[in-house]
Amino acid sequence: METVPDLTVTSDTDPYGAVAGLYDWLHVGPGSTDLVSFFAELAPEGGTGLEIGPGTGRMTLAVAPRLSSLYCLERSAFMRTILLTKLASLPELREKVTVLDEAVPGFSLGRTFDYVYVSAVFEHVPPDARQALFAGLAEHLAPGGIVAMDMVEDEVIPRFAEREIRSVRQGDCRYTLSTAVTPVQPDLGQVRHVYRTYLNDELLTTHTVEREHHMHRPAAVFADLRAVGLEPVAGTALTKTGTPLDDKGTLVAKRV
Ligand SMILES: C[S@@+](CC[C@H](N)C(=O)[O-])C[C@H]1O[C@@H](n2cnc3c(N)ncnc32)[C@H](O)[C@@H]1O
Repeated sequence: METVPDLTVTSDTDPYGAVAGLYDWLHVGPGSTDLVSFFAELAPEGGTGLEIGPGTGRMTLAVAPRLSSLYCLERSAFMRTILLTKLASLPELREKVTVLDEAVPGFSLGRTFDYVYVSAVFEHVPPDARQALFAGLAEHLAPGGIVAMDMVEDEVIPRFAEREIRSVRQGDCRYTLSTAVTPVQPDLGQVRHVYRTYLNDELLTTHTVEREHHMHRPAAVFADLRAVGLEPVAGTALTKTGTPLDDKGTLVAKRV
C-alpha cells in the first residue's frame, strides 16, 4: 500500500504561525474579489460543502451562506483561531460551519459532500502528494457533486530579490510584507517572506518565513484527476484564458 504523505505542521513549522493575524492585510491581493466570487458562485444553494485549508475564512464566509452545512479542514492552529474568532461574531453561521484540525491528504470523514473546494492551498502541496489529495477529494464527493480548485497554472516561477509587496496601517503601526523568490526546479520555488512592523517610522520587529512554493501544472493535474475518476470541465486552467495575474488558474471537475 502506498504511504500517504504527511503534511501536518506544528507551531514551529507552520508558515502562518506568528503572522496569521496579518494574512488578510498582507496576503489578500487586488484580484481576491473575483476569486472569492468564483468559489462562492459554484456553491450549490442548500447543498453541503467541504473546504480544504480555509485559512482565515476568506472563501468560507462567502460560501457558507449558500450552503446548508460546510466542513472546513485546516492544519494550522493559528489560522483556525482566526477563523473561529470571525465565526464567533456570525451567529447565522453557528449551526452551519464546522472547523476541524486536519491536514490533507490522509483524512476520512466517512461521508460525502455536494461541493468540495481548495483555494490557495496547492502552493503548500508537493506534487507527489497531489494524487493522494485528489483521491481524498473524490472519496468525499457526492454523486453529481463538483470539485473546485485554483493554482493550476503554467506560469514560470519568477526570480526576484526581496521587494516590498504590500503595506498597511493600523493606528500608528505600519505592517509590511517583502518577498523574494528563487526558482529551484521548474515546479518548485523557494520563497522568503519578511514581515516588518513599524511604530510610526521606527522598526519594531522583523519576522522571516522561508518556505517552498509548489507549482501544479494543468496537464499533470488533469491526469491525476482522471486517475481518481474526476474529469476537468471548466476553469481557466482548462480554457487557458486570462493570465496568472487575472486569476489563479481555476479548475472545476466532476465525477465521470
Ligand atoms: C494561502 S492560505 C489560503 C487560505 C484560504 N483558502 C484563502 O483562500 O484565503 C493556505 C491555507 O491552507 C492551509 N493548508 C496548507 N496545507 C494544508 C494541508 N495539507 N492540509 C490542511 N490545510 C492546509 C494553511 O494552513 C493555510 O491556512
